Amino acid sequence: MIRTKICENLNDTYSFAENLAQELQAGDVIALYGNLGAGKTAFVQGIAIGLGYSEPVTSPTYALWQIYEGGRLTIHHFDLYRLDTVEQVYAIGFYDAVDSDGVTLIEWPERLGDELPVPRINVYINRIDEEKRNICVEGLK
Ligand SMILES: Nc1ncnc2c1ncn2[C@@H]1O[C@H](COP(=O)(O)OP(=O)(O)OP(=O)(O)O)[C@@H](O)[C@H]1O
Ligand SMILES: [Mg+2]
Repeated sequence: MIRTKICENLNDTYSFAENLAQELQAGDVIALYGNLGAGKTAFVQGIAIGLGYSEPVTSPTYALWQIYEGGRLTIHHFDLYRLDTVEQVYAIGFYDAVDSDGVTLIEWPERLGDELPVPRINVYINRIDEEKRNICVEGLK
């Protein structure tokens, strides 16, 4: 199933992600595609709000992996922009997150090549203008 939405501004993106969060199940993996500044981290923030996590979410630029606990499901947030080699995912414990009963959200999933988990949900975020985004979600049950 594919779901597409034009989000007119940041709040729209938050609400869209917040609603989608209600449909997430333990073990789900979400790949977030989009250019720098498209809104991948913003989307993670919306999911976090939707799962009842109350703290602000930031891009885990140097950590590669951040965990948010306390909501309906634990969130494993990866930003792989700075992943040097695909093999590095084993060292950072990527599969511990994927095999857990939380949800795994991945920014820059392209970096994983063939290591990108299957099955997964794909989210494509395209910047139309300063505030407008086209968001397409594929693979929800
Ligand atoms: N409709 C919108 N949806 C998402 N972000 C928006 C929207 N309108 C404006 N923005 C702005 O765009 C920026 C998105 O930044 P964000 O950090 O989420 O991007 P990103 O895709 O995670 O980038 P990076 O690849 O650097 O991690 C924020 O400054 C946000 O306020
Ligand atoms: Mg980001």
